Order: sequence, then C-alpha cells, then structure tokens
Amino acid sequence: MSVEQMREVDATYRSLGRRAVWDAVSFASFQGWESTIRRRAVARLQLQPGDRVLDVACGRGSNLPYLRRVVGERGQIVGIDYSETMLAGAQQLVRRNGWTNVDLVKGDAADMQFRKEFDGALTVLSLTVIPRWQDALQQMAGAVRPGRRIVAVEASWGSGWRRVWNPWLRLLSRVTAGDLGRDIPAEFRRSLMSVQKEAVSLSTAYILTGTVPQPS
Ligand SMILES: C[S@@+](CC[C@H](N)C(=O)[O-])C[C@H]1O[C@@H](n2cnc3c(N)ncnc32)[C@H](O)[C@@H]1O
Repeated sequence: MSVEQMREVDATYRSLGRRAVWDAVSFASFQGWESTIRRRAVARLQLQPGDRVLDVACGRGSNLPYLRRVVGERGQIVGIDYSETMLAGAQQLVRRNGWTNVDLVKGDAADMQFRKEFDGALTVLSLTVIPRWQDALQQMAGAVRPGRRIVAVEASWGSGWRRVWNPWLRLLSRVTAGDLGRDIPAEFRRSLMSVQKEAVSLSTAYILTGTVPQPS
C-alpha cells in the first residue's frame, strides 16, 4: 500500500472502529440482514469442526461468532486487519468470550504470505476497501488448500429499478472508503474454480464462492 492509501484506511477505520459507530455502519450496510448474510457466507465455506479458517480484513470480529460456531473449539481462526482500532474491537470480543483458538494479526491483506495452511478464507465488505485488493485475493488463494473455498461478501450498485438504492450505497461507500466499481466477480473467475454469485440484501450485495484450484 502507498503511504497515502495507508493513511486513508487508518483514518477512516480509526473513526468508524468505535463500537457504537461500527454497529450503526454495519446495520446500515446489511439493511437488517447482517446475521442471515454472515451465517450464509460462513455456510458457503463448507467448514468442518476442527478446521482452520482465515478471516481477511476481520475488522471488529463480526464474523468470529459464526466461524467459531462451525470450526468449534478444536478449530482455529486467524483474523487479519490493517486497522488497530478495528482489531482492538475484535480483541475485546475474543477476551469477553474467552476464545482461546482465535489469533488476531495486524497486517496488510495484500502481503499475507500464508501458504496452503487454511481450510477456507472469508472476507466481508473488504475487497471493495483494500487498496491492493487483487493481491489480497491472490494471497487468499495462496493461503487456502486446493479444493477448499474462498467466500467474499460485497456490496454492488443496483441496476434497473434497484438503482433507487444507489444514492444510499454511494453514501455508505464514501463513509467506508469502499469502491463499488471493482469487478470482484471477474477476479474470482480468473483465480478460482466453480465460482458462484448469489445476490442478497435486495441485490445491493452478493456472496461470491470459489474453489482453490490444484497448483499447475
Ligand atoms: C468495511 S470493513 C469490514 C470489516 C469486517 N470484515 C466486517 O465484516 O465487519 C473493512 C475492513 O477492511 C480493513 N482493511 C482495509 N484495508 C486493509 C488491508 N490492506 N489489509 C487488511 N485490512 C484492511 C479495514 O481496516 C476494515 O476493518
């Protein structure tokens, strides 16, 4: 990330990362369907108890309860995020729940360097935010074992009558430093197999699922 991009992510999520503010932003982003969408995204990973899963740009840890429910106490969750303020929220959540199998790491998702160590990777509302998002997706594909899945949840502009949502989405993307113009489905198709896209939240968001190919 360039210094300028780092500053933007840091500044944006320093102010959004406080609990009450983040809860409001999250509620607005998912329009009341947050738990349904997070649960569905986690289900698409097809994880088993004991699996190891990566949560990319984990933020305040909103996915952790859903991931923890499927991998159980024998599994392991690694969350990575660039913002210390967001990570502090995730750390509080982990401490409050006494979870001993969640590791939280500060870092740039585009430089992760994990190697075929995970049984799945999830990223929610973040590939539209991470400056070097294509590199982050490549790193996710490198981190996950072949045959296992990567799932992303992202917002998208409405088309047809659904354009009525676009002023709202424009406001949200400005607040969260998100770029809804990124063609994340195309990048999934370039890097992964069996890519599926499912519209959610009145088609203002989608869940993408892809399988990591065998190395050629
Ligand atoms: C809209 S929030 C989503 C947080 C979380 N995934 C969720 O669903 O609540 C976007 C997150 O991306 C993180 N982020 C942005 N750029 C990043 C990068 N290069 N590496 C890691 N995290 C990054 C931000 O700090 C923020 O926590």
